[in-house]
Amino acid sequence: MALWVLQLYIFCLSCTPSARASSNAQSQITNIHPFIVDLSAGVPRMRELVQNTRLPKDPEYPYLASSAGIDLDVLKFLRAEWLSKFDWQKEQDEMNRLKHFTSSIEGLTLHFIHERSSDPDAIPLLLNHGWPGSFLEFTPIIKELTQSAKTSTGKRVSFHIVVPSLPGFAFSSAPPANWTLEDTARVQHTLMTEILGYERFATHGTDYGSGPAYTLYANYSQSTRAAHFTFVPFLPLLPEQLAESNITLNGSLEKAEQSNALVWRTTGSAYFSEQATKPNTVGLALYDNPVGQLAWMGEKFISWSDPRQGTGPSLLTHNEILRSVSLFYLTNSFLSSVFTYFQNPTTFTTVYTKAKTDAPMLFSAFQYNVGFWPPALLEKIGNLVFYRNHEFGGHFAGVDNPMALIDDLREIANYWNNTY
Ligand SMILES: *[C@@H]1O[C@H](CO)[C@@H](O)[C@H](O)[C@H]1NC(C)=O
Ligand SMILES: *[C@@H]1O[C@H](CO)[C@@H](O)[C@H](O)[C@H]1NC(C)=O
Ligand SMILES: *[C@@H]1O[C@H](CO)[C@@H](O)[C@H](O)[C@H]1NC(C)=O
Ligand SMILES: *[C@@H]1O[C@H](CO)[C@@H](O)[C@H](O)[C@H]1NC(C)=O
Repeated sequence: MALWVLQLYIFCLSCTPSARASSNAQSQITNIHPFIVDLSAGVPRMRELVQNTRLPKDPEYPYLASSAGIDLDVLKFLRAEWLSKFDWQKEQDEMNRLKHFTSSIEGLTLHFIHERSSDPDAIPLLLNHGWPGSFLEFTPIIKELTQSAKTSTGKRVSFHIVVPSLPGFAFSSAPPANWTLEDTARVQHTLMTEILGYERFATHGTDYGSGPAYTLYANYSQSTRAAHFTFVPFLPLLPEQLAESNITLNGSLEKAEQSNALVWRTTGSAYFSEQATKPNTVGLALYDNPVGQLAWMGEKFISWSDPRQGTGPSLLTHNEILRSVSLFYLTNSFLSSVFTYFQNPTTFTTVYTKAKTDAPMLFSAFQYNVGFWPPALLEKIGNLVFYRNHEFGGHFAGVDNPMALIDDLREIANYWNNTY
């Protein structure tokens, strides 16, 4: 750690930091605390609860399969694997191969992973996860992104990666009741500029993480010099609304994406209303119920992902679902995570307004994502310079098609120098 702190200090002295960051550099170093994931003490109780939770012997209505929510057989199978195969210690050791820290900002403890590239010219990149995701959504891509590589046009690229846990998630403290995603963007801006000394950075956002990422892009445009999204904080338009705007779809992939998004809208969004209006009811009901959390969140991991999940480029295995749910249970963060919806009920708006920034915006669409925004729609909210559509993958691109997300994030470098 001492070596890293020294590197940060040298970095801050040599990278033309803003006057503010410079004068604060020394004092802010004391606001960076190395952190080790150690949740082992909670595992025996979690296992006991998983073991002792009763489930029906057979489904009441087997012909419904997963059309009425999580399939009982799938839930039982996952539970059996939780008890027989899943190894928290192994997962935790793997998490600790990344460098974790906490920092105290505006009274909140903010947890984040910070992995620096050995390349001093690397682009600082803040990755913003969503719900029911966590920093785990990005663990397969972090180290790779710090490595030197080439963009599609042959430009050299590498990143300094920062992955914060949203307030209320994992090891970040639960925020005050009226905390919004704009507040989250503000503390993330403080983290990047004042605490880590990155005067300019890029950001990526998915799901609820697209909220702070878009606010950084729109309202902190001096420092946020590029943004990449797989999801944006705007409600996708219905087919008739797109037609009214004279937006036509390009090919069968966009048509498939539109129908996937419609399924979410018509039969997949009840959790959203529940979490936005009565977060305590579901949050307390499942607070000490790991199998309940597995049903509630596991259904989302499964139905929002590519049906081929866990095969080909996808790392979204049963184990991935179990380690995510275990993280929520063991950090007691299910309740505080669902409050994000209550605190931001109108984040996803149908009013498409363009961000006042000249920074570039990049977007990657994945076929099985639950939101769909054709390029003509994205052009209404930012300076769309890049749009790529992927046949494989879904809502959790960092685990469902990590290589594609890595490739697309690297494209940021093609636009980075132009933005100074
Ligand atoms: C949030 O609530 C606190 C305590 O009630 C209050 O002091 C603060 O002004 C509120 N903030 C906003 C942005 O409404
Ligand atoms: C930017 O800031 C303004 C003023 O505080 C606010 O009304 C707006 O919602 C913010 N935009 C985003 C995208 O957060
Ligand atoms: C869509 O196209 C029609 C026919 O060209 C035009 O009358 C209408 O104003 C357009 N609508 C929008 C929102 O651009
Ligand atoms: C339509 O999609 C194809 C294949 O994804 C792409 O190559 C092409 O550029 C797209 N055209 C437009 C107008 O977006």
